[in-house]
Amino acid sequence: MAKISPSILSSDFSKLGEEIKKIEEGGADYVHLDVMDGIFVPNITFGPPVIKKIRNITDIPFDVHLMIDRPERYIEDFANSGADIITVHEESTIHLHRTIQSIKSFGKKAGVSLNPSTPIKNIEYLLDDIDMVLIMTVNPGFGGQSFIPAMERKIKYLRKLIDDKKLDVKIEVDGGIKLDNARQVVDWGTDILVVGSDIFKSDDITGRVKMFKEV
Ligand code: DX5
Ligand code: ZN
Repeated sequence: MAKISPSILSSDFSKLGEEIKKIEEGGADYVHLDVMDGIFVPNITFGPPVIKKIRNITDIPFDVHLMIDRPERYIEDFANSGADIITVHEESTIHLHRTIQSIKSFGKKAGVSLNPSTPIKNIEYLLDDIDMVLIMTVNPGFGGQSFIPAMERKIKYLRKLIDDKKLDVKIEVDGGIKLDNARQVVDWGTDILVVGSDIFKSDDITGRVKMFKEV
């Protein structure tokens, strides 16, 4: 069964605590936290102090997606804020291997994210070192965009590569996931679905998470 990681990017930040309780009741497996710096992506969100505060209200593991330039500068801060998985973009750092080692040195799971145009081969030599690959199925920066169809082939290709090499690397897919395409994306080999707007723009957040869990 695929795991669900609701992205709070589309939540009502004035009631963030309540909304997190609702996804918890729905059975969310992770909380997906989209950190944006206005440089790597054209949008700005929040950083370690906010994550640290939310850490006090829930025990759900934190899946922190860093869309920031040179994330190696802030790994320690995010590790200390209560992140469980820290994912960095392949395109955001020259020293990806070193950055992954840094994440692991703090006892955290390490993920690498790929923009839609970035090929899987860019991380081929690092697959042994990481816990998760996050395939972006929209251009990072905003919630509520449409799934890019060419990413089907990318997900299937990565699934085959991981299975052929018998690696324990999870595939997370982020962007444009709705109830009506979730089943298909899981069938292509996804382990974790990130869902933003389809959950938080719903009138029944708890019920919506439950519906995704049933997929
Ligand atoms: C986009 C973020 C996503 C976003 C997904 O840059 O990484 O996590 O919140 O939102 P939806 O599900 O609305 O596409
Ligand atoms: Zn994300």
